[in-house]
This record gives sequence, C-alpha cells and structure tokens, in this order.
Amino acid sequence: METMCGIAGYVGPRSAVQVVYDQLKRLEYRGYDSAGIAFLESGAIKVFKRAGKLGELGKLLGEFPDDTHMAIAHSRWATHGAPTDVNAHPHFDQFEQVAIIHNGIIENYLELKEELVHNGHTFQSETDTEVAAHIIGEEYARGVPLEEAVRRAARRLRGAYALVVVSRTERNKIVCARNASPLVIGLGEEENLLASDIPALLPYTRQVLVLEDDRIAILTPDEVVVTDLHGIEQPYVPMQVDWDIAAAEKSGYDHFMLKEIHEQPEVIRQCLAGRLDDANNVRLDNVFSEHVWGEIDRVNFIACGTSYHAGLMGKYLFETLLRIPADVFYSSEFRYGDPVLSPKSLAIFISQSGETADSLAALRLCKQRRIRTLGIVNVIGSSIARECDRVIITQAGPEISVASTKAYTAQVISLVLLALHVAQVQEMPGVRVEEVVSQLKRLPGLAEKALELEPQVQELAKKAAEAKLFFFLGRGVDAYVALEGALKLKEIAYVATQESPAGEMKHGPLALVEPGVFALFGATDAALRDKLVSNMKEIQARGGLAVSVTTEEDQITDKAADFTLKLPRVNQNYLCALLSIIPLQLLAYHLASLKGLEIDQPRNLAKSVTVE
Ligand code: M6R
Repeated sequence: METMCGIAGYVGPRSAVQVVYDQLKRLEYRGYDSAGIAFLESGAIKVFKRAGKLGELGKLLGEFPDDTHMAIAHSRWATHGAPTDVNAHPHFDQFEQVAIIHNGIIENYLELKEELVHNGHTFQSETDTEVAAHIIGEEYARGVPLEEAVRRAARRLRGAYALVVVSRTERNKIVCARNASPLVIGLGEEENLLASDIPALLPYTRQVLVLEDDRIAILTPDEVVVTDLHGIEQPYVPMQVDWDIAAAEKSGYDHFMLKEIHEQPEVIRQCLAGRLDDANNVRLDNVFSEHVWGEIDRVNFIACGTSYHAGLMGKYLFETLLRIPADVFYSSEFRYGDPVLSPKSLAIFISQSGETADSLAALRLCKQRRIRTLGIVNVIGSSIARECDRVIITQAGPEISVASTKAYTAQVISLVLLALHVAQVQEMPGVRVEEVVSQLKRLPGLAEKALELEPQVQELAKKAAEAKLFFFLGRGVDAYVALEGALKLKEIAYVATQESPAGEMKHGPLALVEPGVFALFGATDAALRDKLVSNMKEIQARGGLAVSVTTEEDQITDKAADFTLKLPRVNQNYLCALLSIIPLQLLAYHLASLKGLEIDQPRNLAKSVTVE
C-alpha cells in the first residue's frame, strides 16, 4: 500500500532505462525509501530493486542495456510494509509474465490474496501490489491481451490505484489503469510516457493527458488509446502544459505549503483508506490487543510543535469520548521533568518526521521505564516509527514545507480513529462509533468546502496585512486549534501572536489590545458561542477587530464579529474544529505571501529538528 510513490514509464526509440531513471529523479521531491525498474531483455522481464535512496538503484544503471525501448520504474514512499528490496516495486505475477508498479491502496487485497493462496499462489512480499500482479497474471495466462487482463483485474479491485503493467511478450506496450491515484500520460513524437506527476514528463513533451478514474490507457510508441473498464474506446483531448519545471513540482502551486494545504481532502481520504468498513466500523491493525486497552489507566501524549497541538486533540478525545485520563507533554519538558509514570500508562508519541530528537529521547526514557509506547508517525521506517512498541502511520504522504499542515490533519484523524478503535474493542456503548465514522466519511468533501473559503481569507489577509499583533482565541477544543493557527502565522509570516483560551484574556493578555490588533476566534463549538461574544466585545471596545471562524448555522458570533469565515457543519465538535485549521493555515500563507516571504523555508527553522 503506497500512497505517494513516484511512477514512470517510457516506450519509444530512446534508451528506456535512462528515461525512466531520469523521470524518477524528477519525482524525488515526493519522497522515497526504495526504488525499482523493469525492462525487457532477451525475451524476459528483468526487475531490479533497491531499498534506500534512488542513487542505490542508480549505481546499477551502467549494467542495464542501453538498447531497451520500454521500461517502467517506481520510487516507493512506504506506508505499509518496511522499505526493503523485497517490498519495493515492480512486482511479478506468479509466472513472471507480467510486472507491475502501483501507487495507492487496494482495499480488498486480503480477500483477493486468500482466494489466490487457495488456488496455489505463493507471494514474495507483504504488498497489496503483488496481489494485483497475480490477478493480472492469471488473466494474462488465459491468453487475453494485456489490456484486457488489466481491465478484468481492475473490475475486481477496490480502493485507490494507479497501476502500470508490462508483459514479457508484448514488447512495445505499456498498459496503465487509474482509480483515484494520480497518473498522467505524456504524448510525444513516436514515443509515449507516463508518470505520477507532470514534472517527470516535461523534458520529453508538453502534451499531457490526465487519465480519468476507471480508465485504462494502452501506450505504444505510435499511439495512446484510452478505454473504459469494458474496453469501449474513450476520446480525449490532451492539454498543453506551459509550466516551468520548478512550478510543475508544486503541481502549479507557488509553494509546497499551499499545495499541501490543498491536499488535505485527499490526505483525509488516504488516512481513512482501508481503516473503515462498509458497516461503519474502524479497523486499525497493529495497535495493542483488547486486554491491553482494558489495563491502561492513563495516556500521555508526547510531542513537539504542531504534533504537540495534535496531542492536545488526543487528550480531548481520550478524556471526553473514552473517559481515560490523559496528559500532553512537550517532549523537551517531559525528558527533564522527572515524570511520574504509572506502569499501566501508555505513552503516545506524535511526530511527522519520526526523527525529532527530543521526542526520540522521551521515547527512550519511556522504554527504559518499561512504559508501553505507541507512535503516530508519518514517515515509515523513521526512528520513532521503529522504536515504538506499536505504530500508526498517518499516510499523509511526504510533507515538504517546513510549516506542517497536512500532517497535522492526518495526525488528528489518526487520533480519532484510535479513540474509536478503543471504544469499539472495549465495547463502550456511550461512543457512537458508527455515527462518527459516517461523519468521517463526509470529511474529505467538507474539507474541500473549507478550501473554498480561500478568496475570503485572501481578502482578510489584505485587511490584516499591516497588523502587528494577532490574537488566536477559542474555548474548549477550538482553543487547541487556535494554538496551531498561531504557530502557523508566527512561523511563516513572522508576526507576533498571543494565543490562549478566550476566558484567559481578562487575566492579563487583554492589556495588549489596542487599535489595529486582529483577534481570530475559533467558534465552531455551538455550546460556547455566547461566551465568545463577550470576549469579542472586550476586544472591539479597545479598538481591536474580531474575526469569527465558525460553522454555517452560527448566528451568534456571526452578528458580533467584524469578519466571519463559515465552515460546513459536521456533528462532532472536534471534527468541526479540525476543519477550522484550514482557513487559519490559508491566512498564514496569504499574509506571508503578501509580505513576499520565503514560506516553504522560513528563517531559522528546519523541517526535522534532530538536535536537542
Ligand atoms: O516531525 P515532528 O512532527 O516531530 O516535528 C515537530 C515540530 O518540529 C514541527 O511540528 C514544527 O513545529 C513545525 N515546523 C510546525 O509547523
């Protein structure tokens, strides 16, 4: 199961192995932990794969033939299954007649695998990709053309995939299939290419076709034919891409941060993929067994920065849904604070990179004290992911901008899934798991709606461009999101912020209010709005401006605020609050952009803080 891999394919007169390797290099910004290539030589498919950086595969390049004219290649950014040679792509079918590469998650692979094993198939890897290879191989062995074998297989696969397949006998043909994972085709002169992303096509052609869902494309040097899953040919019109290469890496966005903010609906989908079933139950593998959850008497969330803010949401979920006492610690404080740890407690480490030095040191302290540990980590194979007793991979894909955006959303979603999982295994009747799951399934669409607020946020950014101080306030769960909104603004727009629960204002911070300050109020929790109105008035009476970040039905803060951003409503207050981070991320981005700042690499900061 891979969600953010690099895919490359070439058929035409050039040296195919050189072209696909060059394509992979152009996709390096997507992240990778292993890579592989397949091409034809002496009537057989040759596959080479290596764990590690792309250069490891590159070392073999001299050994590959120069006169091979069809090749596919893949760089993997693992989300399931360790980044090893064996798990790297391409994968063969059982007869080594076809080889495939894949990006996405095949949700029904376990049931398909069972059926294949029952029919005598054996597997080399743990991947869902190999299952797809075997299904295609079985069809191909029946004597149907490769494209028909892929179509028949695609009709049986559930989930998201971009599949690319070559066969031993059809020497000049690459077949690819797409459902909800990126796949683009480049149309050249007597050559055709494919890739997971446009930058990998641009040195060869600017004529690009974005393959639609449930479509198969057949690439030969002379043509690209597109069909539906039943073989009916589908007309298409390629687009002319005029981006320069740097812009293309960002899919046309000016910065990775903006791209990553816009990826959040998809990230939520990826994070949920394979973890919810049709009956609205949660399926989380590899967390502790039922009896362990029965024993746990306290949960300590330990993290830094944005991940710490996700931990606050974790505390809220564990306490309000599960009634399990929870605390949140900054990793740097936890280590030196001589914490009192119950032997029955669980320490949950949240980290995008999985390499943050303070979090790693805190984890090692817990292990010394024999405390159970669970990681919520984005980078599989990272130190924290490896050293925790159990790990949930957040499946957000590589995050490149220093300011964390999509990783936060994926962390919070993972925490919601974890809380629901515990409620389920502990049979807690008070937690309506099925109802929450049905709302979670709506969330990607609602995040898309939240992104539609961008023009309003840009207007607000223009009004606030000269402000010297921003308050970020909220009550309850909104107060936690306020902290994250403030961190984004400081980090990339270099503006001073004052963040606290709204009720704390009159205990000190109110003294900072003067004309020209902006106060952003998280007001998604309907039960707490009346109280927020009084806080808004306190700000306005001293010349400040109040902005309400709220939900569509709110007519309370709506009337009191100077500016309102309205999000779609979802039943759970913590999910509404999570959506409210999107306009706050956009505000930070647009303020920094108006100031002409660096954005993806803010001054003095690093993406992964590996020193204490
Ligand atoms: O990789 P981690 O999640 O462990 O990193 C923790 C913080 O360094 C990180 O969240 C930092 O605060 C971000 N730059 C915030 O945008």
